[in-house]
Amino acid sequence: MKNIYSNIYSFNKKILKKTVESLKRGNIVGLPTETVYGLAGNAYSKASIKKIYKLKKRPKVNPLIIHYTSLKDANKDVIFNKNFFKLYKKFCPGPITFVLKKRENTNIDKLATAGLNTVAIRFPKNNIVKTVIRSSKFPLAMPSANLSSRLSPINALDVYEEFQKKIKIIINGGKSKIGIESTVLDLTDKPRILRPGIISSKEIKKFLKTNLSHKKSRIKSPGMLKKHYSPGIPVIIGRKPSNINDAFIIFGNKYKKRKNFFDLSKNGDLKEAAANLYKIMRKIKKKGYKRIFVSKVPNYGPGIAINDRLKKASQ
Ligand code: TXA
Ligand code: MG
Repeated sequence: MKNIYSNIYSFNKKILKKTVESLKRGNIVGLPTETVYGLAGNAYSKASIKKIYKLKKRPKVNPLIIHYTSLKDANKDVIFNKNFFKLYKKFCPGPITFVLKKRENTNIDKLATAGLNTVAIRFPKNNIVKTVIRSSKFPLAMPSANLSSRLSPINALDVYEEFQKKIKIIINGGKSKIGIESTVLDLTDKPRILRPGIISSKEIKKFLKTNLSHKKSRIKSPGMLKKHYSPGIPVIIGRKPSNINDAFIIFGNKYKKRKNFFDLSKNGDLKEAAANLYKIMRKIKKKGYKRIFVSKVPNYGPGIAINDRLKKASQ
């Protein structure tokens, strides 16, 4: 991508240094991860956390995910357990977030965890974000880099569209490979999915050799809030539009292609569909369509995460 926006940078040693210095001063930066782009700040600094909430216009009751590159560092802030170790070994670094008990003497700012006695932690796989974390002396609090209740960004330009010059640095790491947010799993009690993702409950269950809890969460988290992931125009699921001014998101080769039809995956691959979901919704909005209709997406594997996002976008 041609760098026409002066706060979007390609990654190199010079920009790494500049990014880490900026984070140390308490500033917020836009970083790529393998799931979606994040809005990163020092998890140990109240001033940084305040800026993140303000930039996103995020309700203060919604806690942030804290990102690490090592168990040693995460161990300073949370208490690990057996289920955590099993899943860490299998899936990390990668698109999964664990909610664990917070240590009493942690330096994580209270605001970042919305005053809860738990912390959501993630070990991202993307090399750029890993290098930034390693070069900083603190973990990164990093929600998706979008305004609260909107679609997550999956490239540097998406981040720019949300915040323009309100952040000084956005690192361009290309398109996020996975394209939807990490699976969030509460491990403080019987394991429970708080937000479905590309790593499915079926895989987790198989691996832990235990059933997951389906109890409703006490915690209000955006993944749990009804309206979320909104493209900014109405989304109607399970119906075909009768009008060519409305866009239609389809899955697989079931329909004859029309100008207003957008296919999540021609081969009917759910992983590919998840990676295309936000990209296609943004494209439809940009083309000026007034509404988005969506055909049925199978409800298994990554399909569960896709349907979760679509349902919330349609509220
Ligand atoms: O893939 C991702 O997870 C991305 C990238 C940037 O890492 N981040 C992300 O963050 O999606 P955010 O803030 O958009 O979503 C975090 C989710 C929310 O549903 C939040 O409520 C939940 O994690 N969460 C954070 N801390 C929690 C906690 N202590 N207990 C329960 N849920 C928590
Ligand atoms: Mg988000």
